[in-house]
Amino acid sequence: MKILVINGPNINMLGIREPGIYGTQDYMSLRKLLEDTGNELGITVEEFQSNHEGDIVDKIQHAYRRFDGIVINPAAYTHTSVAILDALKAVGIPTVEVHISDVSAREDFRQISYVREYCVKTISGLGTEGYRQAIIFLKDYIVR
Ligand code: DQA
Repeated sequence: MKILVINGPNINMLGIREPGIYGTQDYMSLRKLLEDTGNELGITVEEFQSNHEGDIVDKIQHAYRRFDGIVINPAAYTHTSVAILDALKAVGIPTVEVHISDVSAREDFRQISYVREYCVKTISGLGTEGYRQAIIFLKDYIVR
């Protein structure tokens, strides 16, 4: 089983950016957590991060017939990107939406999520542990 984890803009700045909101764990430790989760579950977990919307669309398209599941934190593109939603719909791969912070308790402009319409589950506010939970959920969801 192969799961692709996609992170949007500024996720590479974890540990530096707004630690009161996103925590002190850095991006490298997130990558390590994903690798450890894959090893623990006996599945392949690949991570991709980009600050560019089109690159994220390209990566989703490239996942077609190559990945069984997607975990996506579109970051700021959550609230703006119809293109990312359409790409997910186009490839038809089961997808879980993850947010490190509890977006439901934040600004009004963060209350809209375009990808949510397509995703089988949303995990928000659990910090980087949310990615682990998402992978565990997806593994079970895919084999069902
Ligand atoms: C985020 C929440 C978004 O609103 C924000 O733009 C991000 C990160 C999160 O993981 O909590 O960059 O997706």
